[in-house]
Amino acid sequence: MYRLFLVLCLCYGLLGFASSEEPTTSVYEHCGNLQLQENIQIKLITGTWYVIEVLQHKTDDKLFHGEKFEVPTCPSIFLALTDSDNTDLKLYWSEDLGDIEYLFKIKDKSSPGFWLSSGSQNGTLLQLTNYNQFAGMVYVRKAISNHMVLTFCSPNTQLYSVVLSRDKTLDAKELKSIVNHMQLQKLPITQTKRTCRSSASTARATAWMTTAFGLTYLAWYLSVHK
Ligand SMILES: *[C@@H]1O[C@H](CO)[C@@H](O)[C@H](O)[C@H]1NC(C)=O
Repeated sequence: MYRLFLVLCLCYGLLGFASSEEPTTSVYEHCGNLQLQENIQIKLITGTWYVIEVLQHKTDDKLFHGEKFEVPTCPSIFLALTDSDNTDLKLYWSEDLGDIEYLFKIKDKSSPGFWLSSGSQNGTLLQLTNYNQFAGMVYVRKAISNHMVLTFCSPNTQLYSVVLSRDKTLDAKELKSIVNHMQLQKLPITQTKRTCRSSASTARATAWMTTAFGLTYLAWYLSVHK
């Protein structure tokens, strides 16, 4: 009886483990099951984007806290097609600390949201950090007019998403829906790095100061010219 109970417990435990862990584990190991945005017009997603958030999906012990933090940098990305056939992509990432360039290839033109890294990255950011060359796939998970979500996956090595916007800000509603969608797909978010926030608040502060100055000036003008 006791043994049966133990076996049942073990089975239940294993099943529970398997069902809750499987989606992430398989994505992490093979980059499988990552949905792509359909009907992407690759030319419409080229040009400049700002990095709003970097979402880590890896479930390493030290990351598994759902931590969120802001970094005082606002990276921009410039995406360009570099051949006439529209299959070679260059992604140029630039921020205060330096820059980095990635090259990708669209293997299947009927699936333009699936990019394969081609060759190694270069740029000044490589020297600054312990940079690990990215070799893997990029999935365009969402691409609409003002924002885009890219998931970088390198089997057993890297799994993270980058939320991009055409402006330096993105509506909180849109961010929430991106996060909800990832949770629905059982892609855990173990770390959220928020970028481009301080510049937005600086812009807001500048706007406030301009307004305040304008009002003070108006009050002075009216008092002098009444
Ligand atoms: C990377 O190397 C290519 C070819 O040498 C060069 O044209 C490009 O400017 C480099 N990019 C960066 C970010 O240093």
